[in-house]
Parts: sequence; structure tokens; C-alpha cells
Amino acid sequence: MAVTVLVTGAAGQVGRDLVQVLAASVPPAGVATALLGATPVLPGEFDVVELDHSKLDVTNAVACRKVITAAAPEVVVHLAAYTAVDRAESDVARAQLVNEIGTRNVVAAAEESSAHLIALSTDYVFAGDLGRALDEGDRVGPLSVYGRTKLDAERACPPGATIVRTSWVAGLTGRSVVHLAAAAAQSGAELRFVDDQVGTWTSAADLAAGLVQLIRVRPQGIVHVAGSGGASWYEIVRRAVELSGGSVDQVQAISTAQLDPAPAAKRPPFSPLVSRRLGEFGSTPLPHWTDGLGRLVRAIDHEAR
Ligand SMILES: NC(=O)c1ccc[n+]([C@@H]2O[C@H](COP(=O)([O-])OP(=O)(O)OC[C@H]3O[C@@H](n4cnc5c(N)ncnc54)[C@H](OP(=O)(O)O)[C@@H]3O)[C@@H](O)[C@H]2O)c1
Repeated sequence: MAVTVLVTGAAGQVGRDLVQVLAASVPPAGVATALLGATPVLPGEFDVVELDHSKLDVTNAVACRKVITAAAPEVVVHLAAYTAVDRAESDVARAQLVNEIGTRNVVAAAEESSAHLIALSTDYVFAGDLGRALDEGDRVGPLSVYGRTKLDAERACPPGATIVRTSWVAGLTGRSVVHLAAAAAQSGAELRFVDDQVGTWTSAADLAAGLVQLIRVRPQGIVHVAGSGGASWYEIVRRAVELSGGSVDQVQAISTAQLDPAPAAKRPPFSPLVSRRLGEFGSTPLPHWTDGLGRLVRAIDHEAR
């Protein structure tokens, strides 16, 4: 029997890869297969109820209840969120509404459906001031409105839910720094990226594969799921330009203080994520960030041909 998985925010960066992987719709020689190496899902293992913003506005409690209970999912993966980190600083009420109240609405509807909830969260719940990688037990201390509202969303989840913290995600869809690096490699353009923000870059395809594991196991509490290893934005973009056939000299390191205009939101300076929980249920960490980045660069190149 297929497991019914309902996904909110399904048209976003994370949602598009997750839906594709869950639906096992990846063609054998397709780009997404190249991104993952292998499809981690058996055909027919999951029925996917894919809800983008137009199909479900999570700030509408009545709609959440109606749409989610009608689908009768076994698992709800809650991805819908206000993710414009800088805009949130001047749009606090909306960020709070979508991230905290929206999560409360999804929690209530999932509970009514007796569905297991998997809610996505972020490294921005941390202050990033410990100078080391952060695990699930580390103290939180968000520096931004986005981080605070995502922490409120975590706290709105019941103890039985899975809260997945991830970070710095990019996939084939959308315009990520990897797309920017690939374009710069072609044109020879110079790029400037900060070297004083260190975190974990995560391939959306690898995250989707990690989420499939969690959908099967349904652990309780917080689990960190991000690429392995840490790097600054400067190092990530430099590697992406190099992998795309450009020169590392095209990328200059700058400090956050040199950004012009200065970003509205503060980011944690050092927030690589590690997990001490994945092993509990036999899950392995995601591949090293350079590995996922290499596959994404090849897929972008393949698409451009
Ligand atoms: N991408 C990352 O680097 C990253 C890192 C850490 C954690 N996360 C978390 O991962 C989850 C997915 O992020 P993502 O990267 O896929 O973000 P995304 O690309 O911004 O997607 C979020 C989706 O939520 C939708 N949405 C916004 N308001 C909504 C509402 N009121 N009701 C229903 N849908 C709404 C958006 O639709 P519209 O565009 O139409 O508004 C968008 O499709 C989020 O919880 C995010 O906080 C992401």
C-alpha cells in the first residue's frame, strides 16, 4: 500500500525536488537521477499530494483543516514558509503569520488527520557564535526575524513531530548562487562573496533523499539534515565557478561589513550543521557538500545544452 504524503509549499526550492523524488518520476537517464546518483524510492511507494501556495494558503486555518483532512495523509511534510530573510525584517507580521501561525494551522490539521508531521526549519535559529559545528542539542538564539519566526514554528510543533533543520539549499530549479557561478564561468564575470559566514551548503536532491528516510522512519524531535562539511559562501562559489569551468580568480572574498547595500538581516557567522541523531535510526549523513555541488553543476550544464 502506498503511503500518502502531503507536501505544503510544494512549488518551492525544496518542494520541487522532494515531490519529484517521492513520485519516483525521475526518468532513468534524467537530470534528477544524475543529481542523486540513484532514485531512493520504489515506484508506487508513495502517493504524493502536492500543495503549492495557490492550492493551500497555510495562514487560512479553515482551508488547512479542510484540505489536509480531505487528503487523509499518513505524513505531512510542511515546507510552506516566509523565506525572504532580509524582507522579513520590515515585514514582521507577515513572517510571523506564515511561519508561526501557518505552522500552528498545519499542526492542528495534521493532528486531526492523525498524520505524522515533518516540519522544515533552519540553521538561522542559531546565533552561530560557538565557533564549531552545531548539533541538535545546541542552544538556539536567532539573530533575525526569519530565524525567530522559524524558532516559533519549531515550538508550535508537537513532541511527536519531526523537525528537520537544514541550511543553504540549492537545486536545479530556481536561481541559486550555483546558477550564478555557472553563468559567471561562461562570461568571465567577477563575483564577490563573503568569507566570514560559514555554514553547510545542501543539495536539494540530497535533502529530498534524506527526507524520504525520515518519512519512512518518522522519528520524534529535532534532526539536522544538511550536506556534510562546512564552508564560507566565498569557498562555495569559488568551487562552483571552478567546477563550471571558470577560474577561481574570478571570485573575490569580502567581509559582511563590505556588502553594499548592507543586508537588513543578521546571519549567524558560523552555523555548519551536524547530526548526532541520524545514527539512532540507521540513517547516514548527506554526502559532502562538494559532492552534491559537483552533481548540481553537471546537471545545470546538462540542462543548458
Ligand atoms: N532554501 C534554504 O536554503 C533553506 C534553508 C533552511 C531551511 N529552509 C526551510 O525549508 C522550507 C522550504 O524552503 P524553500 O527553500 O523551498 O523555500 P521557498 O523556495 O521560498 O519555498 C517556500 C514556499 O512556500 C510558499 N508559501 C509562502 N507563503 C505561503 C503560505 N501562506 N501558504 C502556503 N505556501 C506559502 C511559497 O510560495 P510563494 O512563492 O507563492 O509565496 C514557496 O513556494 C522552509 O520551511 C524553509 O524555512 C530552507
